[in-house]
Amino acid sequence: MSDDQAEIKEYVRQRYGERARQAAQLTVLNVEEAACCAGGTCSTDVDASLGAFPDLYRQSELEGLPVEAVAASAGCGNPTALAGLKAGERVLDLGSGGGIDCFLAARQVGTEGHVIGLDMTPDMLALARKNAETLGVSNVEFIQGEMEDIPLPDASVDVVISNCVVCLSPDKDAVAREAYRVLAPGGRLHLSDMMALGPMPKELREDPQKWASCVSGADDRETYLERLAGAGFLDIAITQEGPARAQEEGSPDVVSVKVVAYKPLEGA
Ligand SMILES: C[S@@+](CC[C@H](N)C(=O)[O-])C[C@H]1O[C@@H](n2cnc3c(N)ncnc32)[C@H](O)[C@@H]1O
Repeated sequence: MSDDQAEIKEYVRQRYGERARQAAQLTVLNVEEAACCAGGTCSTDVDASLGAFPDLYRQSELEGLPVEAVAASAGCGNPTALAGLKAGERVLDLGSGGGIDCFLAARQVGTEGHVIGLDMTPDMLALARKNAETLGVSNVEFIQGEMEDIPLPDASVDVVISNCVVCLSPDKDAVAREAYRVLAPGGRLHLSDMMALGPMPKELREDPQKWASCVSGADDRETYLERLAGAGFLDIAITQEGPARAQEEGSPDVVSVKVVAYKPLEGA
C-alpha cells in the first residue's frame, strides 16, 4: 500500500471511529464531518437515523434493533433486502459498522445460518459487539480486519454483502479479489455502494475528507464493472441506481447503486 493509500485509510478509520463513539452516546453528528453519505438518499446523522429511513430500511425491519445500531448506520442502501438470503446461508458483511445489516441478515438466515461482520475500526467493532449482546443473537459475530485482506478461509461464505464501504477502499481490486476468494463456488455478491457518473479528478482522489464521505473514492461505472469482472465474477449487473447526489463544479456527481455478481460454480 502506498503512503497516500495508508493515509486515506487512516483518515477513514478515524472518521468512522468518531461516528461509532457518537452513536454509542446517541450524540447528534456533524453531517459533513461524520457521515459517509451526507445528503441524498444516504443516512446522514444520528437524528436522521433514529427516524425512519424512508429510502433504505422499512420501519418493520428496524423494529427490535438496538437504537445504537440504527444510530451508527451509515449506508447508502439496504443490501439484505435484495440479496434473497435463505435459511442456513453463511453471510459476510464487508465494513459492517454498527451491525445493522448483519442483524437483518441474521433474521433471514436463521439459527442454522451464520453472519460475519468484518470491520477495520475498533470502535465500530466494539459498538457492533455490544449491539449483538443487547439483541442476544447467537448467529452473528464481528471480526476485525480489512476487506482488502479478509481474515477468512477460501470458499467459506455463500453471500458477501456490503453497504457503502467498497467506495472507501483505496485498493478496490484487492477487495474484489478477496470477496471472490472467500465466496463458495456459486456464491453471490450484493453491494450497495456509491458510483461516480464520470471520472474522478486526481486532486479530488487525494482529498481524504471527500474520500471518507464516499465521494472521491467512487469509481465510474466502467471501472467498477471491470474490477469485478477482473476478479472473476460473472453475471454482473447494476440492479438499482439513483438518485444522484450532485457535487460541486469540477467533481462528477455520485449515485448510490445496487450491484450483484456471481462466482461461477466451476471457478473455485
Ligand atoms: C460508511 S460506513 C458503513 C457501515 C455499515 N455498512 C452501514 O451500512 O451502516 C463504513 C464502514 O466500513 C468500515 N471500513 C472502511 N474501510 C474498510 C476496510 N478497508 N476494511 C474494513 N472495514 C472498512 C468503516 O470502519 C465503517 O464502519
